[in-house]
Amino acid sequence: MKSYSFFLDFPCKIEENKGEKYRESLGPFGGGKDRIMEYVIGIDLGTSGTKTVLFDRAGQVMASAAVEYPMYQEKNGWAEQDPAHWWDAAVRTLRTVVEESGVNPEDIKGLGISGQMHGLVMLDEQGQVLRRSIIWCDQRTAAECEEITRRVGAQRLIEITANPALTGFTASKILWVRNHQPEIYARCAHILLPKDYVRFKLTGEFATEVSDASGMQLLDVPHRCWSQEVLEKLEIDPALLAKVYESPEITGTVTPEAAALTGLKAGTPVVGGAGDNAAAAVGTGVVRDGKAFTTIGTSGVVFAHTDHISIDPKGRVHTFCCAVPGAWHVMGVTQGAGLSLKWFRDNFCSAEKETAQGMGVDPYYLMDQEAAKSPIGCNKLLYLPYLMGERTPHLDPDCRGVFFGLSAMHTKWDMLRAVMEGVTYSQRDSVEVLREMGVQIGEMLACGGGGTSSLWRQMLADTYNCPVKTVKSKEGPALGVAILAGVGAGLYPSVQEACDAMIQTNEPQLPIPENVPRYEAFYQVYKGLYPALRDNFKCLAQTE
Ligand code: XUL
Repeated sequence: MKSYSFFLDFPCKIEENKGEKYRESLGPFGGGKDRIMEYVIGIDLGTSGTKTVLFDRAGQVMASAAVEYPMYQEKNGWAEQDPAHWWDAAVRTLRTVVEESGVNPEDIKGLGISGQMHGLVMLDEQGQVLRRSIIWCDQRTAAECEEITRRVGAQRLIEITANPALTGFTASKILWVRNHQPEIYARCAHILLPKDYVRFKLTGEFATEVSDASGMQLLDVPHRCWSQEVLEKLEIDPALLAKVYESPEITGTVTPEAAALTGLKAGTPVVGGAGDNAAAAVGTGVVRDGKAFTTIGTSGVVFAHTDHISIDPKGRVHTFCCAVPGAWHVMGVTQGAGLSLKWFRDNFCSAEKETAQGMGVDPYYLMDQEAAKSPIGCNKLLYLPYLMGERTPHLDPDCRGVFFGLSAMHTKWDMLRAVMEGVTYSQRDSVEVLREMGVQIGEMLACGGGGTSSLWRQMLADTYNCPVKTVKSKEGPALGVAILAGVGAGLYPSVQEACDAMIQTNEPQLPIPENVPRYEAFYQVYKGLYPALRDNFKCLAQTE
């Protein structure tokens, strides 16, 4: 396996390809004896960067490549990215995996894209990008959320879109552009989500799929189609929106122009793919009732599969269509999970970055070891991970990060561990809401960059008081959409059967009985902090 770059990965030595270039694939559907050279590609368009992985049909990684790009924060609470960077990253990583794997492009049977959700991409009639994308963690749209609630009605909005109006979601971003940049809105002919922009560049098709479309607040989530009622009430022309597919369906094929840039074969099928969390669910086998995962990527998510739609009447967690046709998922989101650790790394860990470079490891690997030097509770120091406001359970764009309890005895390692613990407590908040809704959590998997840290996984196990497992493959969302591509291309009969055959789990990490009450005590203090500070956060937001 060749890996060219990485972000938020622990422990991170670059692995070199020790296998042959053409590998015999005897996958579960491979028929045993025959040499089957069939491959699928997953592109994971994240917030820190894009990672592309080429798999054989048994889910083995043949080659992988990643490219990072910036996020622009012109104002406190704003977040934008340039779609040109996403396309450039997709082209470069695709070209690398096709070339380096040595696989014949003829044998690549399909491609799926997973993407950061909710981002707004606006194109003109010629398909040119009209402005930078306002992405998921941007918090500028509080007024537009009020407008949406006024126009649609709070209860009707939850009935149709399964969520209250949220600053992170796409609808409020569309209204913000209409209210603040009417000249751009007037020229807008197509609205796409981040991964669907890359699909458009690859195939020329304006298409999306149900899991990502659920996060636009324009989809009728129970019925899995655009809501005429919401579109009419918001006065958004349905012609602006892409055609909606189920996640494993083929949405188009690679154009000759895109083939020339990427090394793919023209005509390679591109399936619907999925929003990053729905894709991670497939990549970790969370495709049946009772299965759940916690991911610590830039954002943090607690995600549970459900065959029957279940909506929190208070809207604290999201209900979205999942990548398994006909099923849904319920998930809680921590806005600043890995983002908090990245912020800490970039501002306080330049020494670790330098040492890590010398050792050929990722700085997060060293930071993980350093955090382990601080005890549970970090010598009475707590961190609230609200760097970009918070969703579950507070739904508050104005709250911000806090270190609470700082004393002269605290060290950088206490602060570092407090960041990890604070993210964990925030994810416990999501688990509490799911438990309150009666959503079954029989098995919890951990994924994302943070999920590869055994220290962080133990914090999850001790704080949730339940066993936490990982899957053997580290590729999460990229594997998930590659599996969807395999299903779309007819290599596997269904998403569940493909997952049963391709995903293996490791031994679970069990809660340590004496740790559980210690974390519980600090979690109770953590829970009291947001209500105590809520008015102060509002005050700060209004202070110039
Ligand atoms: C989910 C969400 C994030 C983004 C970025 O609702 O906003 O998980 O998809 O990862």
